[in-house]
Amino acid sequence: MIELKKIWMDGKLVTREEAKVDFLTHALHYGTAVFEGIRCYETPKGPAIFKAKEHIDRFLHSEHIFGRDLNYTREQLVKALKDTVKANGLKSGYIRPLAFMELGGMGLNPTNVRIRIGIACWTWGAYLGAEGIKNGIRCKISSFQRPFVNSGMTKAKMSGNYYNSVMAKDEAIKLGFDEAIMLDHDGFVSECSGENIFLVRDSILYTPPKATILEGITRQSLIEVANDMKIEVREEIITRDQLYVADEVFLCGTAAEMTPVREIDFRKIGAGKPGPITKKLQKKFFDIVRGKVPKYKKWLEYVK
Ligand SMILES: Cc1ncc(COP(=O)(O)O)c(C=O)c1O
Repeated sequence: MIELKKIWMDGKLVTREEAKVDFLTHALHYGTAVFEGIRCYETPKGPAIFKAKEHIDRFLHSEHIFGRDLNYTREQLVKALKDTVKANGLKSGYIRPLAFMELGGMGLNPTNVRIRIGIACWTWGAYLGAEGIKNGIRCKISSFQRPFVNSGMTKAKMSGNYYNSVMAKDEAIKLGFDEAIMLDHDGFVSECSGENIFLVRDSILYTPPKATILEGITRQSLIEVANDMKIEVREEIITRDQLYVADEVFLCGTAAEMTPVREIDFRKIGAGKPGPITKKLQKKFFDIVRGKVPKYKKWLEYVK
């Protein structure tokens, strides 16, 4: 079981036992919660949260898309993240804020249901494995599509949306792959169960446009870093076979960080190992999050 010393609950740091919720919690039944996934890294100046403000902004936007607004400001929630990291003595790992509908009615009408907010954090290594980060992973195009944009709100990290990702991930793992690549309702490449996707062809980076995907904070960071490194980036519609013939493919996300893809649907990608552009960008990414590149220190929220 993941060890949690303290959980931030509605403004207070409490023990895991004190943070227990009721069986009739609305979110447990209907997925009426929004969440974030954030990483904290060890840096020479102590633990630092990567792009804390951007994550909190997306958290607030998710709730807004859901049609509600939280009674907390961005500054209060960034402080809450830092307080949670400090209270747990976390050096590097994952932070999970969740705003969930709790008690106030068991029907679908959410009008009188109270919203509570919790934040937990824990030590978490490479989501797709250290070996995957180094040598690349194997992916499968999922038989599950991303929800149509008027059904699942793709810009909201809403818990209810994630049954789709969980089924895709489960299918990929049962088939012996590491991760699922999902197509959108028009059949174009969209994203993975919890990551955005890039391909490299003739030294140019391509990634699907924002309309049908979660606007990944890692994706945006890598676009900016690539531009700074004079690597051209194009946000374009991508087909499944464009992935097959790419020189390189990689996934990115807070949990997965930057993970190369060496095989898709039993087809080797490029040389079947992480390519030169992926490796260059990956090194830069890890240097940035660990506070080694002065230019990008603005992306770090130091905890102390
Ligand atoms: C469906 C999906 N796509 C992409 C991402 C990557 O987003 P980020 O880089 O902000 O973590 C995530 C993770 O949050 C996700 O759940």
